[in-house]
Order: sequence, then C-alpha cells, then structure tokens
Amino acid sequence: DGHSQLSAYERKRLKNITENAKFFASLKLHESAARLNQLTTKRRSHITKRAKPKKAEDEPARRRSRRLLRVEPLDIPLLESLAPPAPEEYPQVPAGPLPMVPEDQAESSKWTETLLSTWMRISEVNTDHADWGTPDIKRYQESLSSMVLSEENVRKVVKARVCSMAIHPSQSTILVAAGDKLGHVGLWNVGCRAEEGAHTFIPHSFQVSCMHFSPCNPAHLLSLGSDTLRCADVTRAVFDEICRSEEDFSCFDFLGENACTAIVSHWDGGVAVVDRRTPGVSPELSADLGFRRTRTVHVHPLNRHYFLAAGSLDVCVFDVRYLKAKGNKPLSSLPGHTKSVASAYFSPVTGSRVVTVCADDKLRVYDTTSLSSTVTLLSSIRHNTNTGRWLSRFRAIWDPKQEHCFLVGSMAQPRQIQVFQDTGSLLHSYMGECLTSVCSINVVHPSQSILVGGNSSGRLHVFK
Ligand SMILES: *[C@@H]1O[C@H](CO)[C@@H](O)[C@H](O)[C@H]1NC(C)=O
Ligand SMILES: *[C@@H]1O[C@H](CO)[C@@H](O)[C@H](O)[C@H]1NC(C)=O
Repeated sequence: DGHSQLSAYERKRLKNITENAKFFASLKLHESAARLNQLTTKRRSHITKRAKPKKAEDEPARRRSRRLLRVEPLDIPLLESLAPPAPEEYPQVPAGPLPMVPEDQAESSKWTETLLSTWMRISEVNTDHADWGTPDIKRYQESLSSMVLSEENVRKVVKARVCSMAIHPSQSTILVAAGDKLGHVGLWNVGCRAEEGAHTFIPHSFQVSCMHFSPCNPAHLLSLGSDTLRCADVTRAVFDEICRSEEDFSCFDFLGENACTAIVSHWDGGVAVVDRRTPGVSPELSADLGFRRTRTVHVHPLNRHYFLAAGSLDVCVFDVRYLKAKGNKPLSSLPGHTKSVASAYFSPVTGSRVVTVCADDKLRVYDTTSLSSTVTLLSSIRHNTNTGRWLSRFRAIWDPKQEHCFLVGSMAQPRQIQVFQDTGSLLHSYMGECLTSVCSINVVHPSQSILVGGNSSGRLHVFK
C-alpha cells in the first residue's frame, strides 16, 4: 500500500491522526463547520459581513440577531412578511481604538482639524450651570415662542436615518453630534456655515442608538453602536473602545457622577454594568431583567443607583446595587402599556416624573416621587406614535432646564415638534417653513434655548 515505505511507528501515528480527526469531526461538526465558514467568508473579501456569534450553537432556539438580519429592532411583525431590502455593503469597523479620521479623509484634513480643535477648545471652559434655576412656565413658554428655525440652520450631517443625538454643553458654540443607522457619527459646528462645519466619522458598523457627551469632560463623546460602546476622546483624536458584545446594544446611561460607570442595555432584554477604568472590553456584570426586550435605560438624577428600563410592555425601576445575573425583581413597575414602549425617562432635576412613549398611541406621565411597587399614572396624552417602517420611533425627552416639560416628535401637519407639560397640556409646537419632515430624535441644550431635531434621512434642524 501507499504507506509501505513508512515505519510502523509512523503508520500508527497516521492512523491515530485519522481516527482523532474522525472523532473530533463527530463531536464538533457544527463548531468546525461554523469556523470554516467564518474563515472562508473572511478570505472572500476584505470587507466582511459580521460573522455569526460562535456561542449561538449552544442555544437550540437561538435568537436571530436583528443586526444580522438587517432589520430595525421593532416588535411589529409586518417586517417578517416584507422582502428584505437590497443588501448594502456595510464595512466592518475593526475592534479596538480607531483614529479620529473622517469618512472623506482625503480632501478635508485641515477642515477636520479646525472642527476638532473647536471641540477641544470649548471643552476646556467650565460649563457648570447648577445655579441656573428653573424658569416659571410662563417665561419658559415665551422663550419657546421666540425660538426659530432658519434655513442656514438646517443641514444634512449623516448619511442615513438619525438614531441618536447629543449636544455639547458649551455656551459659546453649538456643537451637535448625530449618530445614524449605518454606524456613522456626524459632528456639526452649527455656527460654521461653510463646508468645513460638518464631518462624518465611522466608529461603528451598525446603528448608533445612543450618544452622550461625558458630563464631567465634554472632550469625551460616548457612542453606542450595536456591538460596541466607544468613547471619542478629542484630545487624543481617537475613538476608544469601552465595551464590546455579541448581543446587540440598545441604550446606555452613566451611573456615577464621574461618568466612569455606565449601565448598558441589550435589545434582547439584558443589561450590563460597565466600568471604564477596568482593562478589557467586557462588562463588570451582566444581568437578566426578565424583559423580552430593553429599548432604553435611564439613571435617576439624584439616587444614581436607581435606573429605569423600558422594553416591550414593561417599564420598571431597578436598584443597581442588588443587580444579579438572574432573577432580578424591580423596585417599581409603571403599569398600563398595552403595546411596545419606545422610551422612558426620569425628569431631569428630581426624577419625580417619568414620561413614556408607547406604540398604543399614548404618552404617559407617572408620578415617581416615591418609588413604591406600583407608581401612579399622572396623565395620559393621545399622540400618534405610528412612525412606520422608515422613521425612527419617537422618544419623549425632558427639557433639561424644565423639570415639568418634555418634547416629542409628531406626525401632525404642518410638521412640528411638540412641547408638553407633565399635566398633559400642549405648551408649544415648534414649526416653521424650514421644517418639512418628521423629527423623531431630538436633543435640547442643557442651559440655553436650543433644540435640535433630526429626521430620518440624516438632516438636522436647529431651533434657537
Ligand atoms: C496513538 O494513540 C494511542 C492512544 O491514544 C497512544 O497511546 C499512542 O502513543 C499513539 N501513537 C502515536 C504514534 O501517536
Ligand atoms: C429630511 O429632511 C429633508 C429636508 O427637509 C427632506 O428633504 C427629507 O425628505 C427628510 N427625510 C425624511 C425621511 O422625511
């Protein structure tokens, strides 16, 4: 036979190898198949699609990642019946720190430098506004009416649908960050009319669902993509990686005042506690809340160990100090939602109110002055939340300067962004000739009369 020239020892070894291979093949067929598949996909092109999480094979009825399916995380089942959209090429952003180089890096390096040095300069100024106080409702209403949207303050800042925004606390310069469905982050210096005013970066591979400037250092912009929480540090011109996961992220908020720790939620219902000071990119703790889905998490402004989580039908307050891997019991429940909840946030100063947006066409305000097991509903407002497939879902956000007033996008014509009081009364509608589309995602400046609305094709509108 072909092995005749081999020694007996070698023959035996070869037999062993073949047998071992067979044995492992029978044991780990699925795993090696998956690995092989991964390898060949990687080889096929430099721009790879995301490989399936390896651990998926351990779960017989496994959750199909919405990121892999390229569908919006919606509960509405109509998506299943629709043909999937034509697959676009999503470049896979590599893991680890990324240089702060804009998408169109070739022609605009000088402009980017200008923008980044502006961000750096305005972050050095102390923006403490603890003693600003809350104006009374009448004065507040007057200030809202005086805000206008002019043509030069409308600009396309990111390519695709706006999924999140953040505004720098500077009182001299309006710097807005917008994150879109493709993982892009756009920065816009609103006062800067020319080309160099806005730049896009690509720190994430998929939807950027949440962004905040660090409350203790606005030179840091934290952004949450589907698989990574990053911190853009302008002083080092780098997008650092804080946390990475194979389960899609949905939202995050800072736990401590020092912004070192954060609670991060997953679409599939779990949450994770992350500490930036620890090395590595895994969370300190992962916890199952018993939710089918978690869309938003928000930390109580005074008692920072309490956080609010909102998901399919559940809106509950948990205590992070007692969080464990499984079997978590909420401190309070906010009942009454009959369809999927899009967002839930504590009021900004005392946390004594919570506003929620629900697909049952209602905005609800709860009294959370005392966090007993069930909190009372204060008001319920009819509001068309049927944003459909192509628009981001509405999130009602509190004006950080006004404990009792919140803003929300609207389907009404003419196009508008509405301001409500917690009692349920409509206080103001931002409108104007230049607002011709629905703004689902909005952000309000912490100390000045500035509102930015983002629409579902990446266009931002600044009322001031
Ligand atoms: C073949 O496998 C047996 C049992 O696992 C082992 O004892 C032996 O040393 C192996 N022989 C060679 C040549 O690898
Ligand atoms: C966003 O706004 C621009 C300009 O107002 C408009 O042309 C575009 O159609 C809007 N996008 C959506 C999805 O409404």
